[in-house]
Amino acid sequence: MAAVVFVGMDLGEDAKKVNQAFVDTVAASLAVVRFPVPGLAFWKGLKGRAFLIDFFSEMIEEKRSSDDTDMFTQFCRSTNDEGQYYSDEDIVDHVIFLMMAAHDTTTSAISTMVYALGKHPEWQSKLRQECDDLFKETGKDHLDFNDQDKLELVEWTFKEALRLYTPVASIPRRAIRSFEFEGYKIPANTSVSISPSFTHYMPEIWTNPYEFEPDRFSPQRAEDKKHAFAWVPFNKGAHMCIGLHFAYMQVKAFMYQFLRQYEYTLPENYKLDMIQVPIPKPRDRLPLSLKSRAA
Ligand code: HEM
Repeated sequence: MAAVVFVGMDLGEDAKKVNQAFVDTVAASLAVVRFPVPGLAFWKGLKGRAFLIDFFSEMIEEKRSSDDTDMFTQFCRSTNDEGQYYSDEDIVDHVIFLMMAAHDTTTSAISTMVYALGKHPEWQSKLRQECDDLFKETGKDHLDFNDQDKLELVEWTFKEALRLYTPVASIPRRAIRSFEFEGYKIPANTSVSISPSFTHYMPEIWTNPYEFEPDRFSPQRAEDKKHAFAWVPFNKGAHMCIGLHFAYMQVKAFMYQFLRQYEYTLPENYKLDMIQVPIPKPRDRLPLSLKSRAA
């Protein structure tokens, strides 16, 4: 979906290679050995990045003269204050970053949301009912932009999945000046890390923080409103996620299709085992038994 919206193309045959290149690039950002030893994560990441640079660079000229409306084309056609095109390097860097930021985060969120609804079939039914009701009301097989807000329970559940299994669990920063926090002196230039997953389990903010309770996001409970930084899966401030509305749309569009088409279960006594870094995902790729509702 990101490729269609941002690059204006269905990746088709290339999808697997491009996908792997993104996965390798993200994994390399946390590699322990930060030197290109063949076979290790950092080396794979550099190779992935080189592939992506070639892949997108080759398209720049064609995109610049096309009538496409996607983001990549906009980057190619934009000019700076001197009326010059941005460099190929800048354009490619922006496209790679945009695709990377959109990619695993949403996948991780959908996986954990689907898992949580497998563990809590009563919520799965409630969400399905909400989707069925919307379908009855609108008769539209696809979720329309203007109907997004009508999927209220889907939205609470997405937020709860992002709280419990936050895709970006740690946000790296560097102290630009020395400061004191909770009695600790942090010198300027120290690496610091903000941890949304710590905040998301603070008992001062959340009732039963370890429980799956989507209605904590309802207007009645509104636990996320207790503090401006209580719920921060997209971070806040200058670098807050610019794709969060796109993520909501993607997840709702997916759920609207998935829940109306299938009922599903997890294996009996299923225990979720997550790979935590660089982005949480189920180690076993989340085995589900799907039952088509049309059957
Ligand atoms: C559930 C899905 C997503 C999650 C949890 C998520 C999370 C985040 C977080 C935590 C940041 C802040 C990083 C920081 O402060 O250093 C961020 C930034 C960003 N996100 Fe997302 N994101 C998601 C989806 C998306 C999507 C779909 C897009 C693209 C449409 C996107 C594009 C970006 C970009 C470009 C930034 C950098 C903003 C900046 O530095 O100014 N994200 N995201």
